Amino acid sequence: MDKPQASFPARRMRRLRRTPALRRLVAETRLSVDDLVAPLFVREGIAEPQPVPSLPGVVQHTRDSLVKEARRLVSLEIPALTLFGVPLGKDALGSAAWDDGGIVQVALRELRDEVGDALVLIADLCLDEYTDHGHCGVLDGRGEVDNDATLELYGRVAVAQARAGADVVAPSGMMDGQVAAIRGALDDAGFTEVAVLAYAAKYASALYGPFRDAVDVTIAGGGDRKGYQQDPRNGREALTEVRLDLAEGADIVMVKPALAYLDVIAAVRAVADAPVAAYHVSGEYAMVKAAAQQGWIDGDAVALEHLTAIKRAGADIILTYHAAELAERLA
Ligand code: PBG
Repeated sequence: MDKPQASFPARRMRRLRRTPALRRLVAETRLSVDDLVAPLFVREGIAEPQPVPSLPGVVQHTRDSLVKEARRLVSLEIPALTLFGVPLGKDALGSAAWDDGGIVQVALRELRDEVGDALVLIADLCLDEYTDHGHCGVLDGRGEVDNDATLELYGRVAVAQARAGADVVAPSGMMDGQVAAIRGALDDAGFTEVAVLAYAAKYASALYGPFRDAVDVTIAGGGDRKGYQQDPRNGREALTEVRLDLAEGADIVMVKPALAYLDVIAAVRAVADAPVAAYHVSGEYAMVKAAAQQGWIDGDAVALEHLTAIKRAGADIILTYHAAELAERLA
C-alpha cells in the first residue's frame, strides 16, 4: 500500500489554542500593570471632585482626592501617574504653568510627600491649560504660535516641575527643539536626574476632544493645532521627530494617539533603543465607554484588546485612562 498523502492541513495551528493554559503558555504579548501610566487631572479651587461627562469614570481632582487616588494607584501597583493641571486663572503667556504656587507644582509636592518614591511622578509640560487662547505656546504679532519664544517658557515650566518633585517631565507641545531646551534648562538648574518623556510623534488628532473638556481648554477662534502637531497622513515624518528628540536628549519617546497609529508605534520601536510609550487618548477611551454604556460592546473586553494591541505593536509603556480598572482586573 502506498503511504497516505501528507495530511492536509499540514500544520494544525489550533493545537496550541485548545486550552486556556496552552494559550497562556504561548502568548507573545503580556500586558502587565507595570506597563501602565494613569493620567490624572487636578483642578485649582474646587471643594469636590468634578466628573468629566465625556470621560466616564474620570474626574477633575481636588488636591485631597488626588492624593487619595495616588495612594490607590500605589496599592494597585501601578508604577506611574502623569499629571495635568487646571488653573483658576489663565493669561496670554500661561504663567501659572511655571509659578511655584501653581496647581501642578503644589500638587506634585503633596504627592511626593504622600507616596515617596512608590510612584513615578510624570508632569505633562505644556502651556495650553494655562493660556487664555488655548494654544500650546505664546502667540506672535500675527497670532501664530512663536516656536522659539515658547521654548524659553517651557524651560521655566520644566524647572518649576522638577523643583516641585517631578521625576519625569513630558513636553506635549510639539515645538521644534523643545527637548533640547528643556534638557538644557533642567541641567543648568542642577536637575540632571529628571528625565524627559517626549511626546515625539504627536498627531493633530480629533481624538483629544474629551481631554479638552477635562482641562477646560478651548482654542481661540475655533482654531486647531495643525500648525505644530503632525499630519495624520504622515508616517515617515514620525521617525524624523523621534530621531530629533532622541538626539536632543529624550529618555523616552511617545506616539500619540495609539490605536490609529499602531504602524507608527511599530516603526518607532524598530528605530529607537529608548523605551517607547504610547498614549491611548481621551477619545479612544470615551468611544469604548460610550459604546459599552449603550450595551453595544463589552467594554472591559474591548479595553483589554485595545491595550494588548498597543503593546503588541511595540509600546513598552501605555498611558491610559483604563489604568486603574485594568490593574484591578490584571491583579
Ligand atoms: C496638550 C495635551 C493634549 C493631550 C495631552 N496633552 C491635548 C491637545 O494636544 O490638544 C491629549 C490627551 C488626551 O486626549 O487624552 N497639553
